[in-house]
Amino acid sequence: MEILNNFSLKNYNTFGIEAKAEQFVAVHSVAELKNILEQNKNKKKFILGGGSNMLLTKNIEALVIHIDLKGKKIIKEDSDFVWIEGQAGENWHQFVLWNIEQNFGGLENMSLIPGNVGTTPVQNIGAYGTEIKDTFVSCEAIHIETQAMKTFNKEECNFGYRESVFKNEVKDQYIITSVVFKLTKQNHKINTSYGDILAELAKNNITAPGLKDVSNAVIAIRKSKLPDPAELGNSGSFFKNPILLKSDFEPIHQKFPEMRFFDISETEVKVPAGWLIEQAGLKGKRFGDAGVHKNQALVLVNYGGATGQEILDVSKTVQDTVFNTFGIHIEAEVNII
Ligand code: EPU
Repeated sequence: MEILNNFSLKNYNTFGIEAKAEQFVAVHSVAELKNILEQNKNKKKFILGGGSNMLLTKNIEALVIHIDLKGKKIIKEDSDFVWIEGQAGENWHQFVLWNIEQNFGGLENMSLIPGNVGTTPVQNIGAYGTEIKDTFVSCEAIHIETQAMKTFNKEECNFGYRESVFKNEVKDQYIITSVVFKLTKQNHKINTSYGDILAELAKNNITAPGLKDVSNAVIAIRKSKLPDPAELGNSGSFFKNPILLKSDFEPIHQKFPEMRFFDISETEVKVPAGWLIEQAGLKGKRFGDAGVHKNQALVLVNYGGATGQEILDVSKTVQDTVFNTFGIHIEAEVNII
């Protein structure tokens, strides 16, 4: 385990932003992680997972600890279900594909989401009608100050839309080291209810889809809308879809009757931020090397040489324009560093 100085993080963030870590270390086991935390008690630390949900706007004057714990295994099973434990540093998409290959169901709608297993609970990742919380059982985490291990069960994680306890009550206090999911071995709950999935399956004449078919459909849809970070730097959805009280939404909706929305409770609606950004005229707009993606307006992209600050400036332009057009504030989903 070698601590490197003045280390470039360009290959460690999916936006592909050039920023330096004052110090950088990759840890490959919980024992190594404990060691590093113990030895650097008084040093400022920054925990780095897959780097897929952050925008680096400056160099990091801290010891960057890259969580590179690998491995996945069955920890329990019965005739219907299997409990799979994935280590935090496992690539999420590879983990999803591995489960599909074993015929373990529940994660297929979340194929091709960038990032690592250990960061999935932090923002309760989700796509195409499924969220992590639907199959999540528990996660192991290490307390940064004391190095004590703690198991968080589902209730303790306090999951919400792109929210969890790790972004709120215990923010910056724990590092997730592994996650357990409960997946189906048979009678899979195939979920094709979300928008484009059925159409994508129909295109290929699939009427009774299995796990792999759903995964392939999601991959095809994502590829058609979302840029591949290896080709065009990005961090997935840059903004959250705003949630509004119905009482606040009604006057806005009267003014803009064509506005899309989804009822999410008796009193609240969710409005697709991608629609707002597109209607505000920003989809596909480029500002130097930063811009709004041409196929999905929720995604900001780095055309190559953008700095984090330039992308942040674009995000502010997007927020201001949407607010001035519709009177709705859209919040960043990505962590701005
Ligand atoms: N829309 C537009 N213009 C756009 C984008 C979307 O008008 O540029 C409209 C669509 O026509 C549709 C609605 O907005 O009526 C919703 O669009 P879509 O189904 O593409 O989903 P989204 O709300 O834009 C969310 C997630 C994505 C996830 C998709 C599919 C958030 C912040 N984003 O996007 O997550 O893949 O649903 O489930 O909730 C991510 O978090 O990185 C991510 C990509």
